[in-house]
This record gives sequence, C-alpha cells and structure tokens, in this order.
Amino acid sequence: MVRVVRATPVELAAAVQALRDGELVAFPTETVYGLGAHAAYPAALRRVFELKGRPTTHPLIVHIDSLRYLTRWAREVPDAATRLAEHFWPGPLTLVLPRAENVHRLVTGGQDTVAVRVPSHPMAQQLLTAFGGGIAAPSANRYGRLSPTRAEHVREEFGAAVRVVLDGGDCKLGLESTIVACLDGKVQLLRPGAITLSQLERVVGEVVTETSAQSPRVPGSSGAHYAPNTPLSVVSSGELEGLVAALTASGMRIGVLALHPPMGTYRLTTWINGGQRPESYAHDLYAHLRTLDKAGCARILVQEVPADERWDAAYDRLHRAAASATELADGGDTVALGVSG
Ligand code: TXA
Ligand code: MG
Repeated sequence: MVRVVRATPVELAAAVQALRDGELVAFPTETVYGLGAHAAYPAALRRVFELKGRPTTHPLIVHIDSLRYLTRWAREVPDAATRLAEHFWPGPLTLVLPRAENVHRLVTGGQDTVAVRVPSHPMAQQLLTAFGGGIAAPSANRYGRLSPTRAEHVREEFGAAVRVVLDGGDCKLGLESTIVACLDGKVQLLRPGAITLSQLERVVGEVVTETSAQSPRVPGSSGAHYAPNTPLSVVSSGELEGLVAALTASGMRIGVLALHPPMGTYRLTTWINGGQRPESYAHDLYAHLRTLDKAGCARILVQEVPADERWDAAYDRLHRAAASATELADGGDTVALGVSG
C-alpha cells in the first residue's frame, strides 16, 4: 500500500497558524516525530519544556527547510559544516554551531552554540516551507521516555495537549539524528544516528568521538534516557536464553528483544525478533520496546547488538535505556539528572 505522506492544504494551514499562535505542533521527520514550537517565540518554547517535563537547561534542535537559512541561526559556519550540510541535508544530521546573537536562550539551553537540522520528511519540509521560519523541536515524548515513531505514539503520550499532530506515517529511520559539533576547528560526533562515523569522515576527514570536559554539553546524550517503563537489561547472546529460562522458571513474565527467533519454548515470555539488519532493527526499535512495555512484563531483556558502526545508534539508545533501569533500581530520582528527552 502506498502511504500518502503529504499534508493537505487545510492541515498545513492549521499547523502554521498554531505555530504562529505560540501553540505546539507535532510533526513527522525521517528520524522520529518532533514536538515543534516557533523557535523565536519564547512562550511557545516554554510550553515545550512544560509539556515534556524537560529541564530548561537542555537545548532544542532548530529545524529549517534548507541550508539557505542556516546563517539566521549560526553566526559562523565553518567549511566542514558547509560540506556536511551540502552532503547530508536534507537528512538525519544535526549540526552544532556557534549561535547567532538573536537565538533565544531557551533554544540553546544558555550555551553559546545552537543545534540545527534540515529534515527530509516531505511533510516536515512542507511545514517548514509554509511556516517560513525555524521550528524548535525535541522528540515528541515526555522527558527520558521512548521517542515516537508514529503519530499514534504522540497521541498516547500527550493526548489533546497537542492541538495539531501531523500524521506522516511511520518514520523511515526510527532513531534520532546523528549530532555533530563543528566548533573550534574540530568536528566531533556527539550522538550516533543513521549517518555513521565513516560516512562523516568520508566528507570531512577526521571526526573526534571521545568527549572531554571541554566538549559541548549534550544533555540527553549522557546517562539515562530513551527508556521504557519496564526495567531493561542488555544481555550477551550467550547469556540470553539461559536467563530467559531461569527467570521464567521462577514465575517472572519476561519480554525479549532478540536478533533471532527463540531456540527453545519459553512460557511467560513475549519474544520479539528484531532481525539482523541494522536499518530495519533501528526502524522498529522504539515500537518494539513500546510493545514489550505494554506486555505486562517484569523485565525486558535485549540481546546485545553487533559491534559494527551500522549498529552504533541502536547500541547507544539501548545502553541508555539500560542505564535508566539501573539508576531507577539504585535510588529512584537519579534518573532525572543531567539528561534531556
Ligand atoms: O532526529 C532528531 O534529532 C529529532 C527530530 C525531532 O529532529 N530530535 C531530537 O531532539 O532528537 P531531542 O531534543 O530529543 O534531542 C536533541 C539533542 C539533545 O540531547 C540536546 O541536548 C542536544 O540535541 N542539543 C541540542 N542543542 C545542542 C547544543 N547547542 N549543543 C549540544 N547539544 C545540543
Ligand atoms: Mg529526545
């Protein structure tokens, strides 16, 4: 079935009007759904933080419809950033650059940098072009939770609190954009996504990956994040089935996200085979975790993904989700420290 992913003129007009009124608009991108606000309207930006329950120190990504508007947001665009933008935009790449003077501190989290991206989803493109300005948009989920990859996930999360939800179907990629900082003559990978390190290096040469005390702060990219409600653990392939057998034998209901079907028959187990292809695994990851979250399990076990850069984004999100579970188990409120959603 061919999915129509363009908004009707009526939907588009309603969305643009809502943004101009300072209301929030959820919209699809090729990565995940965003919760959009007029990026130059402080009251609208404040609403994003309130609705998500996100600390205001955690910056937002400004979405624009093309490279031509970049200098409205960034005071300096280094050569490396121009090359990356020309190569990967529109697409799942966010650039962190020195911010232009007028960018509101709610967008930047009070930092001297701004994150900008040009999404490729046709409906996001339509919205940005019709709106004609920047849309600040975090993923459309409550702070620390799983990002939405379908319009219905946004509805589940926020209900009627978001007046306009543009439905562009399933997000093509399913995991958030690759974030790259181009600052002080360095190119640094801050969050892995569908665009891999070697793809970046093919365009700009060396890309730094380790973070240091001087690195730009990426709240939401360190520590607990992207988590289902059910405690999640990542387990090695060798351990997986033994653990499932042992836990279910003790009467525990278990959810499993594996890379293959089960070898044995296990009672009390919801087993999802995420498959061996990194693209389709990433595409379905959040939806699978939502399914397992609703299955009434006491624990979710996720089989470790391969050590290969095409799996880096999934690896990153899974280990953050597992960190959330550990922090919750360790003492409750530490889950909210130093991260954003
Ligand atoms: O794919 C995506 O990037 C999605 C779609 C909606 O575009 N958006 C998204 O936004 O994932 P959010 O807010 O969930 O994650 C943005 C990340 C956060 O970890 C934030 O801390 C980081 O980008 N960020 C934003 N501005 C930054 C800045 N100036 N310096 C460093 N990190 C920044
Ligand atoms: Mg997020």
